[in-house]
Amino acid sequence: MQRLLRTGLNAGTEAPRVVGGEGVHFLLADGRRVLDGSNTGGPLGHGHPGMVAALREAVALPMVSEGWSWLGRDQAAEDLFDIGLAGETGWAGAVRFCLSGSEANDIALSLAQALTGRQPLATRERAYHGLVGLSRDVTTQPHWHGGLAAPEGRSRLPFPCAPVHVLPPPDGALYESATGTGRPAGLGLQTAPAMLAQSCAMILDYTQGGFYHDAAYQDALAGLARANGALWVADEVVTGLGRAGRPFAFQGGASRPDIVTLGKGLGGGSVAVAAVVLSHEVVAAMRGSAWQNYGTLRGHPLAMAAVSAYLRILRDEALLPRVAALAGCFAQRLQEIARRHPSVCRVAGQGLHWTVELHGPDWRHWLADSAEAPIASQVAARALELGAVIGTSGEQTSLFLAPPLVIGDAEAEQLLAILDESLDVADRVHNAGPG
Ligand SMILES: Cc1ncc(COP(=O)(O)O)c(C=O)c1O
Repeated sequence: MQRLLRTGLNAGTEAPRVVGGEGVHFLLADGRRVLDGSNTGGPLGHGHPGMVAALREAVALPMVSEGWSWLGRDQAAEDLFDIGLAGETGWAGAVRFCLSGSEANDIALSLAQALTGRQPLATRERAYHGLVGLSRDVTTQPHWHGGLAAPEGRSRLPFPCAPVHVLPPPDGALYESATGTGRPAGLGLQTAPAMLAQSCAMILDYTQGGFYHDAAYQDALAGLARANGALWVADEVVTGLGRAGRPFAFQGGASRPDIVTLGKGLGGGSVAVAAVVLSHEVVAAMRGSAWQNYGTLRGHPLAMAAVSAYLRILRDEALLPRVAALAGCFAQRLQEIARRHPSVCRVAGQGLHWTVELHGPDWRHWLADSAEAPIASQVAARALELGAVIGTSGEQTSLFLAPPLVIGDAEAEQLLAILDESLDVADRVHNAGPG
């Protein structure tokens, strides 16, 4: 009997059986060494010497819950403001640490409800913000419903905690196929003010569903949120502190959020840790009240040591300019690849996070309720045979690349070449047509 209950990113296929990792590679149970191509939680790859040294030292630290004070937690907060938020202290006021991106978003949205006295939430189409409480509610990709998916309409779905308004997404893609993407174009934000006037907060992320930073979209919505009394939560769980090629994706626009959530690589990929950053204004609005909702493992000493170590490595190894430079190479090569493959309908991305979307069924109607491997998972399976772990966005048609930020030029080229060859699988299905 299989004791471990598992979930999966690539639907309908076996997950790679990882037994170890070094640098930008995974070691698999079958003895192979494969590139780690889609791992938003692993910015430093595997076994980074700086992280290993910091965590060896930290393992002997005492267990101090969030209810007691711990000097290393104050230090991690200082490091976040000095290194990550340098230049942003005009608006950024304070931070609280927690355990996961989902939890950070749930904490941020609960706080927004408490501060505004409104229950409804606003997000954009095709968002993913997590699988906990309010973060699950604002996850609008239908298959990440947090319930049980089964074929033939037998899925069992959970109930939402709060009503959700769904804003139209931004447009921007680097490449779109001549036959189109099947998306309705240019929806505009006419309906946004009415939605925001009812919502406690608008939460926006910068990768999910293949939508990346768009300054005009962000600034327009930020202005509308403020004018209509909703807080703006920037979900930088994927993009914050590395992957966007600048400290935060939102820095591409002029507007600044009320709350920022961080997670994924915040602990260098070695420890589960996340954070909620509040603006001075939000901190001021909380004055005179107790935020009495302590968590046993939040701000754990090991996690705080990992945050400080990661931020110093990010600065000392100049990883942000490195990501920005690699972004140009990914943009150019992915466009070439897309033009060669008729199965590709859209490519978009930023820094070291790129989405390749394939022609195929409409994602709006899929609950992950089919037993067979969708086309994106079949491409990922081929990539694994060829030597790279590539993820799908859990959808039928979306693949994403998010290699470690420390990837070398030759390894990046190898990853792109493997993607290129793997897409032949999707071309064969596409060229055969619907029948
Ligand atoms: C944009 C975004 N927000 C939040 C989350 C949730 O983070 P976690 O998986 O750490 O709970 C994710 C996870 O993929 C994400 O992509």
